[in-house]
Amino acid sequence: MPRGLFITLEGLDGSGKTTQIKRLAAWMQKRGLDPVIIRQPGGTATGDRIRALLLDSGATPLTPMTEMALMFADRAQAIAEVIEPALASGRVVVCDRFTDSTEAYQGGGRQLGSERVLQWHRLVCGDLQPDLTLLLLPSLESSLARARNRNERTTAQTGQDENRFEREQGEFFRRVWEKYHEIARRDANRVVLIEGNLTIDEVHEQIADAVSERLLAIR
Ligand code: TYD
Repeated sequence: MPRGLFITLEGLDGSGKTTQIKRLAAWMQKRGLDPVIIRQPGGTATGDRIRALLLDSGATPLTPMTEMALMFADRAQAIAEVIEPALASGRVVVCDRFTDSTEAYQGGGRQLGSERVLQWHRLVCGDLQPDLTLLLLPSLESSLARARNRNERTTAQTGQDENRFEREQGEFFRRVWEKYHEIARRDANRVVLIEGNLTIDEVHEQIADAVSERLLAIR
């Protein structure tokens, strides 16, 4: 059985990833593909508990190293339970965030540096790399504005506050943004950078083109 295709979506909070993943899943289903969709942190029972720990803004602040270790603990579980079995059975896996997020947020944003993140990646993920990464980077200003609106809406609707990350402002997000650009330059074969303030349809078209190309390459 040929191995499946591993696709990741990356971007700043508020970059429209969630909408695009839904569109991409529908696009795939129309073409007879039945993708496995998973998000990080989360996506397994253990991962959801780790996610709650990570995103709870009322909790004692985590050190950057603790945060990174929890991200990789979540990832180890997701790889074993969901990602590897799906790829081994030939399925397409679409993952909302993967190691690039850890490199951008903990490596860049929290200033742990890329090398430490990549060492953990080798330890936990071995050779597993996405076949294709779609990196959504609308302008920094519009991403921040969208993330802020979304937080206010969610908090008003649910009374729950998952906003610890999104409270970090300006400089933190600028470092995340720059690290993402660095990753895109370094791994240009894997990463398709979708930048600028495009409409939802325009972003979807670029994603569909990139995915079609990879699907053709493996058929
Ligand atoms: P989430 O609500 O899933 O945000 P989004 O919908 O924007 O993906 O929250 C995930 C948060 O966790 C997001 O702020 C990015 C952060 N994160 C890291 O800092 N490191 C990581 O390795 C991952 C996977 C996520």
